[in-house]
Amino acid sequence: MSDSIVVTDDGAVRVIRMNRPEKKNALTQPMYAAMTRAMRDAEASEAIRCLVLAGGQGAFCAGADIGEFLESAQSGGLRPHTLEFLKALAHNQKPLVAAVGGLAVGIGTTLLFHCDHIVAAADATFTTPFLKLALIPEAASSLLAPMRMGYARAFEMLVMGHPLSAEQAREAGIVNKVVDGAAVDAVALQAAREIAALPAGAVAVSRRLLRGHLDAVVRQIDTEVMHFKDRLQSDEARAAFAAFLSRKK
Ligand code: COA
Repeated sequence: MSDSIVVTDDGAVRVIRMNRPEKKNALTQPMYAAMTRAMRDAEASEAIRCLVLAGGQGAFCAGADIGEFLESAQSGGLRPHTLEFLKALAHNQKPLVAAVGGLAVGIGTTLLFHCDHIVAAADATFTTPFLKLALIPEAASSLLAPMRMGYARAFEMLVMGHPLSAEQAREAGIVNKVVDGAAVDAVALQAAREIAALPAGAVAVSRRLLRGHLDAVVRQIDTEVMHFKDRLQSDEARAAFAAFLSRKK
């Protein structure tokens, strides 16, 4: 398993932590693969009753690694572990709590639409700059965001790329609790333990009933991927990736 994903079991709770702080937890193919494995293993384990997806204080996840985007654009190749991860997220049956300790960008925000309970640091921000990179929304966010926050707010975030603060994300119905940055992991773990202590069978059925749209979610992921691959190869996207990677700080 990649060191940039650290998996720890704490009783019935599995914590899957993104751990690439030098790149603000931007996700690489080995990281997607490791997270998929951790979710699938949990699926097969009766002992694990709840998952926590965490990053670090200050950075939850800066989105997909833009260097890999550029490689995919140049080679025309696919990024198979991303799609595998998105499908694993959609099909995951265990309750998923997110501990958002700081910035959440791109897939760092859109994966949250698959979570059941989200704790965020007061200074966390939620941004989906897909269009700035000449890309389109992914992870079924084009379906789930309008459902969760209404079309007007979803368009402003997903298409116009306007960020949300933690408090705005709470008001929009994405985040459950906004807490001090230092308390995010502990509060998320507490929520996960509370969920894990509930009768697992009843939780699983309730969760399925509340979600109720798995086929539509999976179809939306496939449709988005089709367009995403197309956009990834475009000259405008390649130029945007190269500009990010060569920017002066
Ligand atoms: N892909 C690859 N590298 C990334 C990255 C990403 N998505 N996000 C951050 N990094 C790298 C930076 O290039 C930098 O690397 P370096 O130190 O080798 O130069 C390092 O992580 C730290 O990032 P930095 O930009 O210095 O931190 P910051 O706090 O000033 O800004 C962000 C953080 C996330 C706002 C900024 O890095 C950013 O905009 N990243 C791109 C986010 C993005 O567009 N993701 C894809 C969405 S589809």
